[in-house]
Amino acid sequence: TVKACLFDLDGVIVDTAVYHFQAWRRLANELGFDFTEHQNEQLKGISRMESLELILNWGGVTLTEEEKVAWATKKNQWYLDLVMQMTPNEVLPGVPEFLKSLRANGIKIALGSASKNSKLILERIQMLDYFDAIIDGNNITKGKPDPQVFLMGAEATGAQPSECVVFEDAVAGVQAAKAGGMKAVGVGSADILTEADIVIATFEDFSVEKLAQI
Ligand code: G6P
Ligand code: MG
Repeated sequence: TVKACLFDLDGVIVDTAVYHFQAWRRLANELGFDFTEHQNEQLKGISRMESLELILNWGGVTLTEEEKVAWATKKNQWYLDLVMQMTPNEVLPGVPEFLKSLRANGIKIALGSASKNSKLILERIQMLDYFDAIIDGNNITKGKPDPQVFLMGAEATGAQPSECVVFEDAVAGVQAAKAGGMKAVGVGSADILTEADIVIATFEDFSVEKLAQI
């Protein structure tokens, strides 16, 4: 039986994935190159500094450590400018209803995100109160696809990995869930999230009843 559901944030609870993409693209453009939405899939679930490394590689740009930190800070500022304009209306369809039904069924809820901005975002969209535990980029030493973030989430909720279901929009996140011995529900496209146990397009297609069938 399922004791806990662990949720990625960006692209699962709320569509900040588009804001990350916008801010990273601006960074690339200012450095004189561009990258595609297809390449952007590789950035999902990946930490800020690792994302920067990948992007600089795509552009063939070499920077000093100091310059990297400065650009990462700029990107985060552009990203936060977009985040600050968010409202609770941007919570993805079906998410509040699904979380409420989990709670009603005694299933624990944890966040498992690589973001260091997760609490700020949850506050903005008024979703902080839904979570029994929050594990994010401030707590982890190893990023997805390492399972650390989800193993910590399982522990915080008192569930065994085999009793957890992870919801993820990132390839690296699905891999992290599977590496941790958990079930993975992909949120997005089945063509991209091929390693997930099942893929849903939105939480409107999902329910507590369907959890048990995974
Ligand atoms: C999530 C997003 C990534 C982002 C990472 C770090 O995993 O999917 O796109 O780079 O968090 O986010 P942060 O808000 O700390 O820059
Ligand atoms: Mg995500």
